[in-house]
Order: sequence, then structure tokens, then C-alpha cells
Amino acid sequence: MLGNIAKVSIKESLSARLLLFTIFFVLVAEIVIYVPSIANFRNTWLEQKLAEADIAILVVEAAPDYMVSRMLADELLTSTENYSITRRLSEEDMQALMIVNKYEVAERFDLKEISWLQSVKDAFGTLFKMNKTEYLIEVTGPATGEGNGDVTIVFDEQLLYADMLEYSLNIVILSIVISLFVAALLYYNLSKLLVRPIQNITENMIAFRRAPEDMTKKFKPDDRDDEIGVVMHELAHMQEDIRKALNQKNHLAKLGGAISNINHDLRNMLSSAQLVSDHLNTIDDPVVQQLAPRFVKAIDRAIRLCEHTLEYGGAQAEELNLRTFDLHNLVDEVSTSLGLLDDSKIHLHNNIKEGQKLTADNDQIFRVLMNICRNAVQAIGESGNITITGTQSDDDITIDISDDALGIPEKIKENLFQPFKTGSRGGTGLGLAISKEIITAHGGTLDLVDSSPKGSTFRIVLPLHH
Ligand SMILES: Nc1ncnc2c1ncn2[C@@H]1O[C@H](COP(=O)(O)OP(=O)(O)OP(=O)(O)O)[C@@H](O)[C@H]1O
Ligand SMILES: [Mg+2]
Repeated sequence: MLGNIAKVSIKESLSARLLLFTIFFVLVAEIVIYVPSIANFRNTWLEQKLAEADIAILVVEAAPDYMVSRMLADELLTSTENYSITRRLSEEDMQALMIVNKYEVAERFDLKEISWLQSVKDAFGTLFKMNKTEYLIEVTGPATGEGNGDVTIVFDEQLLYADMLEYSLNIVILSIVISLFVAALLYYNLSKLLVRPIQNITENMIAFRRAPEDMTKKFKPDDRDDEIGVVMHELAHMQEDIRKALNQKNHLAKLGGAISNINHDLRNMLSSAQLVSDHLNTIDDPVVQQLAPRFVKAIDRAIRLCEHTLEYGGAQAEELNLRTFDLHNLVDEVSTSLGLLDDSKIHLHNNIKEGQKLTADNDQIFRVLMNICRNAVQAIGESGNITITGTQSDDDITIDISDDALGIPEKIKENLFQPFKTGSRGGTGLGLAISKEIITAHGGTLDLVDSSPKGSTFRIVLPLHH
């Protein structure tokens, strides 16, 4: 049983997919967060560097005539890792520190007028630059203090790049740790809440399919009220119902088999009794002569009951022997078999078109027509009419059998096609039940379409093509 579940490969299993999806989504979320945060990191980094430079250059302000020694200037530039620092408070008021050697600025940035999108672009520009050595950039930002002064520094972008790289690596490591952690938590919870219960249900369904009658494999639903809980309870109920129905069906099938056997033997015994009863008529004794006809009739009825019961039991199992025959002729045969000859008081009008073809099991359709017409004959009694008509359409043929008897009593109508429910006047109540089964097996329908004190009409609809 577990084997089937295990066949779901690791790649396809729900748990593995959930795990992969979670990792993937957390990583996507981290990327979405990373983009603005790296731009922000670069801005802050530059602002700090500008602030440092701003403080360093204040030394110049303290010096007489704003002049400092070359040594101090170099010292200040080296300690702040800048090639030059310029502080400009106004056109006239400007201090600058710069190294003596000539240098060339590769790119200029102004932090005062920068959009968010631009700062993102600049950040990725720094990260993915090809030429990383001696790439000097000039950055301008607002100076501390009053006024609209600004500070400009020139430095090697390598410094910024190294810090940004470290920051990015930290984020990558953090993202992986977070996604694994979240995925593990989610995985644990989802497999506890969803995957394992679903596996449980699947296993049970497979077990049930293999042996529905096995009571030991009864499904025990978990005690929960959510959707899965509802599924589990419904499954348990459904299995219980199916199990009961199956057991009952098996029971009935066995009972049916037993009855069938008994019937068979009984019919043989009754047939022997019938042989004896036939001789009774020849005995010239008034008492025997008086009782014999009732005795013979009773035995005849008993034999008919056995035969019909056997017929009903065998009806479902029988294979259809389909062949094309003439329906008009078949109705004539029914008429003859029922003894409805020309001089009979009960007249059967065969309104089926001559040469009307039908593909079906000839014997079984004959049996159906016999059953329905015999009922009509019994209902009519003395004299009356039975009319059989046929209407053919593209796909099927409709056969209506009408009589002008007194109709079917309301009480009987409800269970008309149920076996053993309607039998009266010596009938078994099987004729219509068997007929309906035969017609259904042909893919058709048999119904009572009309019944009034003026008569009844039964309708058979049979498909023309099989
Ligand atoms: N054309 C009809 N007119 C009036 N009553 C009918 C007609 N056809 C059937 N019935 C009623 O329906 C009942 C059921 O018919 P069905 O053929 O199933 O059983 P049955 O004739 O009693 O027994 P069986 O045919 O097995 O010998 C009949 O007993 C009869 O009362
Ligand atoms: Mg009948």
C-alpha cells in the first residue's frame, strides 16, 4: 500500500515542491528588498565620507590665512583616503586640500540632486564596473553648518566597491539563512497540516479500493474542523455507507443464488407432480374429478412461479443475442401464442408497418411483448382490443401497446416495475420487472405512459443502432 505512495518521486512530491517554492519566494522577496537597500547603503556611505572630509577640512579654517603645511595636508588626505577635499561656502569663501600629483577624475556625482532611481542605477554602476583600479570619482554633497555650502571629494571608487561588495555578500548569506529557516518552518507546518493528512487519506483510499469489505481498514478521521477535517469525515462516512451497501448486496446476491437453486429443484419436483396430476383426470371417481382441476391449476401456478423467479434471477446475467428481425411478424407471433386468433373476442391490432426492421434480441423482445400483452389480456377479461403501434425516428423506435381494459389501480402503479410487489390473481408480479430489465439492457426504456378507466398504454423506446 505504501509502495504506491512512495512511487511519487521526490521531485513530484508535494512536500518537496512546497520546500522549493518557499525558498524561491523568500529569495525573490530578498532581491526586491536588496535593490533599494544597496542604493541606500551607497548613499549613506558617501554621506559619511563627505562628513569626514568636512571635519578634516575644518582644520584649514583654524589655520592662519587658511594655510596649512603640505605635510598636514597630506596627512589629512591620507587619513580620510581622499585625493582632494574642497569646501565651498560661497564663490569667495573656498578651502581646498589636494594632493600634489596630478590625477584624473573618471566620473562625477552630485548627491544634492539625485533621484531614487538614479541612486539605484549608480549603485549597480559601482558594483558592475569593469575597470576597478584607479577609478577616481568626484562626489559633491552639502556641507555642514549654515548656508548652502557644499563639500566635494575625490577618491578611488575601489573603497566604495569593497564595502558594497561586503554588504551584498552579507545580504546574500542572510537571505539564504532566512529562506532556509522560513522554508523549514513552513515545510514542517504544511506537512503536518496538509501533506501528511493527504497521504493518510490517499493510503486509505487505495486500501479501500483493494478491499472495500475489510473492516480493519476503517478510516479514522483526525479531530479537526477545517477543510481537511471535513474531507476526512466525509470520506469516513462515504466508506461506511459503501461498505454497508456492498455487504448488503453480497448478502442479497448469495440469498438470490440460494433461492435460484431451490427454485430449480422445486420446479423439477413440481414437474414430476404435474405428470402424476395429469393422470388424475383419467380416474373415474366423482370426488377426484371434482378436486383434480383445482389441483392441476395449483401445480401449474407453482411451476410458473418457479420459472418466472428463475427467469428474473437469470435476466441480468444473460448476454444479448442481437440480430435484425421483422417486428411486424414478431407481433403476429405474440398474437398467435396468446391464442388471439381471428375469431377470438379479444382482438390484437398489429399496426406495426409491414417489414419494419429491428435489431435486438428476438427472444427477449418476444418475452417482453408477451408479458405486456398477457397482462392486457388478463385485464380485459371477456372481450376488448389491444393495439400495437410503431413509430420510427432517426435514432430509435417507439412501440406503444394500448388496451381498452379498466386501467391499472393506483395502488399498484407505484411499484408496477418492482419485482414481487404487484402480483395478483395468480400472477407473480415479475412480468413487468423482467420486461423493464430486458429493455434497459437493450439501452431503451419501458414506461406506463397512460392509464385510465378507459385503458392503459405501455411505451417501449428502443435504439435502432447499437
Ligand atoms: N394492461 C393492464 N391493465 C390493468 N392492469 C395491469 C395491466 N398490466 C399490468 N397490470 C397490473 O400490474 C400488475 C403487475 O404486472 P406483472 O406482469 O408485473 O405481474 P403479474 O402479471 O401479476 O405476474 P406475472 O406476469 O409475473 O405472471 C398485474 O398484476 C396487474 O394487476
Ligand atoms: Mg404479467
